[in-house]
Amino acid sequence: MSFSSYQLNSLEAYRKAYQESLRDPEGFWAAIASDFLWHQKWDQVLEWNFREPKIQWFRGAKMNITENCLDRHLDTQGDQPAIIWEPNDPKEPHRTLSYRQLLEEVCRFARVLGKNGVRKGDRVCIYMGMIPELAIAVLACARIGAIHSVVFGGFSAQSIADRIQDASCSHVITCDGAFRGARDIPLKSVIDDALTQCNTVKKVIVCRRTKTPVSMIQGRDVWLEDELEKLDRSASFPPAESMDAEDPLFILYTSGSTGKPKGVVHTCAGYMIYTNYTFVNVFQYKPGQVYFCTADIGWVTGHSYIVYGPLSAGATTLMFEGIPTFPDAGRLWEIVDKFRVDTIYTAPTAIRSLMAHGEAPLRNKDLGSLKVLGTVGEPINEEAWQWYHEKIGKGKCPIVDTWWQTETGGIMISPIAGLTPEKPSFATLPLPGIQPAIMDEKGKELQGNGVSGNLCIKFPWPGMIRTTYGDHERCRKNYFEAYPGYYFTGDGCLRDKDGYYRITGRVDDVLNVSGHRIGTAEVENAINMHTDVVESAVVGFPHPIKGQGIYAYVICHHQVKEEMTRKNILETVTRVIGSIAKPDKIQFVSGLPKTRSGKIMRRILRKIAEGEMNNLGDTTTLLDPSVVDEIKKGKL
Ligand code: WTA
Repeated sequence: MSFSSYQLNSLEAYRKAYQESLRDPEGFWAAIASDFLWHQKWDQVLEWNFREPKIQWFRGAKMNITENCLDRHLDTQGDQPAIIWEPNDPKEPHRTLSYRQLLEEVCRFARVLGKNGVRKGDRVCIYMGMIPELAIAVLACARIGAIHSVVFGGFSAQSIADRIQDASCSHVITCDGAFRGARDIPLKSVIDDALTQCNTVKKVIVCRRTKTPVSMIQGRDVWLEDELEKLDRSASFPPAESMDAEDPLFILYTSGSTGKPKGVVHTCAGYMIYTNYTFVNVFQYKPGQVYFCTADIGWVTGHSYIVYGPLSAGATTLMFEGIPTFPDAGRLWEIVDKFRVDTIYTAPTAIRSLMAHGEAPLRNKDLGSLKVLGTVGEPINEEAWQWYHEKIGKGKCPIVDTWWQTETGGIMISPIAGLTPEKPSFATLPLPGIQPAIMDEKGKELQGNGVSGNLCIKFPWPGMIRTTYGDHERCRKNYFEAYPGYYFTGDGCLRDKDGYYRITGRVDDVLNVSGHRIGTAEVENAINMHTDVVESAVVGFPHPIKGQGIYAYVICHHQVKEEMTRKNILETVTRVIGSIAKPDKIQFVSGLPKTRSGKIMRRILRKIAEGEMNNLGDTTTLLDPSVVDEIKKGKL
């Protein structure tokens, strides 16, 4: 039982696997799947159509993902570290959990969930900081077949309430607080605010971390440590729940072009196989190596490449509680040095922000253990790529620029470390099993190389989205309607003369701010909640560190004190969504450029925000072209 049978080891092997995956997709994935633990094998590898859409992988099979992530490694590596956890404060000791210990913790947590009434199929909202108990909570849900919905610790009470209501969660798992850099975030108190609006939640399980005072509501709130204490130590572990391959594993909310985030649903077996296959191949993980992904488990990268991918491969996954710049900009490099990290996987925005601190933070840090560098979340600009390559990888480490999405479950287009010749700012080639298509504006697939358009995928892969929670029609409309017969990614893309793919950014109204997806409509809704605001329009603009910044044009009811209103609007957005969605610039305007039918011409606003004032294209269809001059004059 090891991944050695399908870990690619040469460019030729990649090309062969790719061809094989085209010729016989079902045979290709079935061969990989046969390496895993199943309670019962499948009757059919794949059934699909993109019309409904209906996507089923390994139908009829029974399994549990946590047995594949934990139990199956015990014989060979029970005492190897599964998770190394580095706290926010470098003075606090780190923790290591072996595979055996992690399994034990997961089973104990699973029993606490059971005792508190969590049942198979229930939705559990998890709102925690980056501590081992977060990974344990996620796995404990999966162990008993509960569906986890992790909400990033930076979201506001309102955002959490929306997500809890959308999924009718019965339970919440949280912490008293979370340490993030110099800050201490009062998670439990945010949950208390959120729960004033949610009547489906029966119990809240609270893990102690920061010792922040919290209010515990009788009958609803319990301390994790008390619940663990109460367990009968002599009782044997309950068996892992036997799940259907297509039972939901988790829901993860993400932004789209409408005002309301959607709950992307992933299922058990396909997601497991896809995250495992992509993890062992893209990073070329070798047994014994230490792998460090700097993402938060609140985002899909943390789900797939801190928890499920690495653990299903028996890897050592390093989990970091803090942020790259605390206590100083050398923190990540100190961690690499301390644990002799082999692979680091991070976001371009983090690289750019560390680059801005110069080379001093790198002094006295031995980065010689690094073998593979990865990036994810947004296009990486060439300057950041070169800095990463030279200063971190010392010119000897391959960089994998991995393109994928919450909806795809795992990496889709990426170099295979050390095998695929790289080209800075190109995600390069599709992984085996992935069939990209570039579409023109008429909906025709563009053949051959040297083309650009909208990126679609034309054949299912095991890790793909199955539905959006509670609203399948929304899933169809969002991803399968624009190009019938294709999954539409929402990204623009070009394929160069060598057949290499370069992702050029979103083509819908979704921004990518510091690698976080934020819908412009969501930010507008939040701004519009402020009493002084009549209307607003939000667009992105190029930002040197964040990739994209948020530019808001706002119309107010009457003459307002601009500074005051600006502050209040920021406060409103923080309260409604969270501080990640705060506009970088707010320009007060008396009108917005609209067509005669009342549609805001965002193209014009985008150009102005980008500073391309003289190239606004046709403005003659505007109801009142004079607002454009006013907006241009007031540009921030
Ligand atoms: C963008 C994150 C360019 C893209 C895993 C996509 C990228 C969105 C890359 C998904 C990359 C992600 N190069 N753009 N290597 N990786 N993106 O759902 O626009 O948070 O659609 O998933 O990030 O963001 P999400």
